[in-house]
Amino acid sequence: AVSRTFSIIKPDATRRNLTGAVTKMLEEAGLRVVASKRLLLTEEQAGGFYEVHKERPFYGELVEFMTSGPVVVQVLEGEDAVKRNRDVMGATNPADADEGTIRKAFAESIEANTVHGSDSDENAATEIAFFFNDDEIVG
Ligand code: CMP
Repeated sequence: AVSRTFSIIKPDATRRNLTGAVTKMLEEAGLRVVASKRLLLTEEQAGGFYEVHKERPFYGELVEFMTSGPVVVQVLEGEDAVKRNRDVMGATNPADADEGTIRKAFAESIEANTVHGSDSDENAATEIAFFFNDDEIVG
């Protein structure tokens, strides 16, 4: 069924002017950008968004990285959007990412891994609501 997921193009990608290249791969994977904005996250926003990782050793660095430059937050729509997006993103660690995936093509490291994508429909709904009002999403 057609569904939605949430995506972030991370600071390592915006810094290298890859917003279009990443979005093109998302579109070619059958996803449609139905909302998009470029933001410089505050520490509070990045920390809140990644709250589930608060106890992980990489949390502090992750928040620092995610506030180090602009991000582009997007809502993506398509057939099985969460899975479709995760398939085209590739593994979290680019060393494990398959050929043809965004992280294989562009990620610099396990932290600077170019994109975030929701891991479930439930988290997609929460993450979309974290950044977008309903009237900012135009399907
Ligand atoms: P993301 O899918 O956005 O979810 C959590 C993020 O934490 C992940 O992508 C990476 O950017 C980062 N991350 C995950 N594991 C590690 C790790 N072992 N070391 C550093 N950063 C990590």
